[in-house]
Amino acid sequence: MKICTIVGARPQFIKAAVVSRAFAQVPSCTEIIIHTGQHYDANMSDVFFAEMEIPKPVYNLSVGGGTHGQNTGRMIEKIEGVLLKEKPDVVLVYGDTDSTLAGTLAAVKIHISVAHVEAGLRSFNRKMPEEINRILTDHASDILFVPTKVAENNLKNEGVCGDHVQIVGDVMLDAARFYGDMASHGSNVMQKLSLHKGQYILATIHRAENTNDANKIRSILKGFSACNDEIILPIHPRTQKIIGDIGVSVPSNVRVIDPVGYLDMVALEKNAKLIATDSGGVQKEAYFHGVPCITLRDQTEWVELVDAGANILVGADSEKIGRALNGGRQGDALFRPDLYGKGDAAQKIVSYLSSRF
Ligand code: UD1
Ligand code: UDP
Repeated sequence: MKICTIVGARPQFIKAAVVSRAFAQVPSCTEIIIHTGQHYDANMSDVFFAEMEIPKPVYNLSVGGGTHGQNTGRMIEKIEGVLLKEKPDVVLVYGDTDSTLAGTLAAVKIHISVAHVEAGLRSFNRKMPEEINRILTDHASDILFVPTKVAENNLKNEGVCGDHVQIVGDVMLDAARFYGDMASHGSNVMQKLSLHKGQYILATIHRAENTNDANKIRSILKGFSACNDEIILPIHPRTQKIIGDIGVSVPSNVRVIDPVGYLDMVALEKNAKLIATDSGGVQKEAYFHGVPCITLRDQTEWVELVDAGANILVGADSEKIGRALNGGRQGDALFRPDLYGKGDAAQKIVSYLSSRF
């Protein structure tokens, strides 16, 4: 079996890390990693390959920093060239980024099977670029690995059902468990930043729906300024740039740091009093590590977290954010049913693909 794995953005390196480990256990399997270049700073890309021991990409297409159209178009063209040369049995794509969609379109048009990991998620907000990427990728894919029953039902409602839709659980849980253990001895970020368990809030902001709107960014930061605790904000380069461009000042209780590697991130998550984020992945990691979460969005595709009381949606509303940050939302995330499987999603994905190709 020959697989071409397409990655490009930070969360995809993390998801692919655990699946690549499982592929490496199958002697008859050759995995070729294609990095689109969507994320390119060392702390947005290289650090993950190094510390998670992800095989080095065989191709780096160096497409990044453009608009959606530029990125997607250039990626399709370059990925097509690689696929025509490599002729894989299957192309594996992850999540909902422009790299996901480009990999899917490039492959499906030249009749190479596409398998989508994290299929079936929906926020039902079509203004989000991620939502459009998910819908198009799901409808063009030949194999859909869904993390939850909710995701399976979303696909059913769009007429996508059958044996090619497989519930496998969430590969991010596999990653949280495997690398989470490594983080306990592999990260010294708590000492480096002089932080103590339960005495700070961890925040991330990067989604287009927040960062493309100056009012939303201002409102989120105003909400943060009302927080009684220190907020640690590893800043995505997109957010850094926009905060500079609009000239908003960061409140004094917010400590901005560069993006961190996965092991440091897990350590920061595990020790936080609460997490405030607009990230898809970080919402789930808060749950995996038993930390309450508030989500800086009006919708989430991870609806089961909200239903379980582990996550509340506060949008970009400064008052709601301030209240939730100071609201003592402690304890209700401690009851944690297995919403995302058993941590063996990667194994299930590889077994299924091995049986098909
Ligand atoms: C992308 C995904 C988003 C995902 C996020 C993960 C799409 C449409 N969006 O958003 O779903 O949650 O990745 O982090 O694919 N930049 C740098 N250096 C980098 C990477 C980005 O400076 O290494 C800056 C550039 O100015 C770039 C901007 O960030 O133009 C946006 O990057 P892009 O990859 O287009 O989107 P993200 O916001 O990262
Ligand atoms: N992450 C990280 N360092 C950071 C911020 C995030 O390692 O400074 C990890 C985080 O733990 C999670 C993933 O990146 O595993 C989430 O990616 P991101 O928030 O960029 O994208 P999303 O999940 O929203 O698509």
